[in-house]
Amino acid sequence: MTPYSKKEVLLQTENVSLAYDGRTILRDINFCIRDIVRPGLQQGQVVSLIGRSGIGKTQLFRILSGLRKPDRGKVVIRERKPAETGGGAIEIWQQRVVEPGDMGVIFQNYYQFGWRTVRQSLMLAARQNKCLAGKEESAILDYAARFDISDVLNHYPAQLSGGQQQRVSIIQQLLKGADFLLLDEPFSGLDVCVLDKVTELLLQVSLSDELKTLIIVSHDIATSVAISDTVFILGRETGREGSTLVKEIDLMERGLAWCPDVRREKAFAETLAEIKSCL
Ligand SMILES: Nc1ncnc2c1ncn2[C@@H]1O[C@H](COP(=O)(O)OP(=O)(O)OP(=O)(O)O)[C@@H](O)[C@H]1O
Ligand SMILES: [Mg+2]
Repeated sequence: MTPYSKKEVLLQTENVSLAYDGRTILRDINFCIRDIVRPGLQQGQVVSLIGRSGIGKTQLFRILSGLRKPDRGKVVIRERKPAETGGGAIEIWQQRVVEPGDMGVIFQNYYQFGWRTVRQSLMLAARQNKCLAGKEESAILDYAARFDISDVLNHYPAQLSGGQQQRVSIIQQLLKGADFLLLDEPFSGLDVCVLDKVTELLLQVSLSDELKTLIIVSHDIATSVAISDTVFILGRETGREGSTLVKEIDLMERGLAWCPDVRREKAFAETLAEIKSCL
């Protein structure tokens, strides 16, 4: 098994709870995502939040992104900040409650502004990233080639397929440069070939930076397990209202992370069965 270790907490939810009209939707959600380090390798994190339809995944997604405040509890992230010292520029770390804009958010419907071409939308995103100053155009061309959308850069969103729109949304968030990328149901509505491609791309993204952390919200258990290092399961507890975290599965421990032929592993099928039994 590949050696790895878990380091600092990158994101932590503390008793996150949410209700609508007095009805509890999410109850005391507690989990943390740690920096995973593999010796000699650049390794980001891929975490999946799995649960059946209506359980509260999209609500939790909105809370994690900072776009919605929970009724109780909080989401804390660890961020790196450039700082100046007498000796030059360094990075310092700080922990704080998540705010809108902290995370790259890829919604289920890949909403794009209809009056901007792909190139214009991507340029707008690239300009938000100070690290790309002066190199926006080349970064866009590079991502477009890697994600196979070079030939649609001058198209409008309505002229794109669903898969192309999804890739544009992912690139947009990558250009912004956030450490965290949140994806709501990134595998739904994709054909098998595109699904393989998206899975591959997300893995590439996770390897692009030590601190890049992908949080995937999905009800596609098999694809989520195949791509992740950790899985959190949202479910219900008998006699209690609302959903909460019913299980955390460390796929690294089971030898199921970073494994190219993971679907052939016996432990893979066993893990899927175990997850289904919790839903
Ligand atoms: N604005 C709202 N007012 C009242 N209830 C809401 C509102 N938005 C969502 N809900 C309720 O919150 C619960 C969780 O919804 P959510 O969209 O998070 O589910 P989900 O797990 O993402 O489902 P799916 O897999 O179908 O996308 C549902 O019972 C839904 O009816
Ligand atoms: Mg949803």
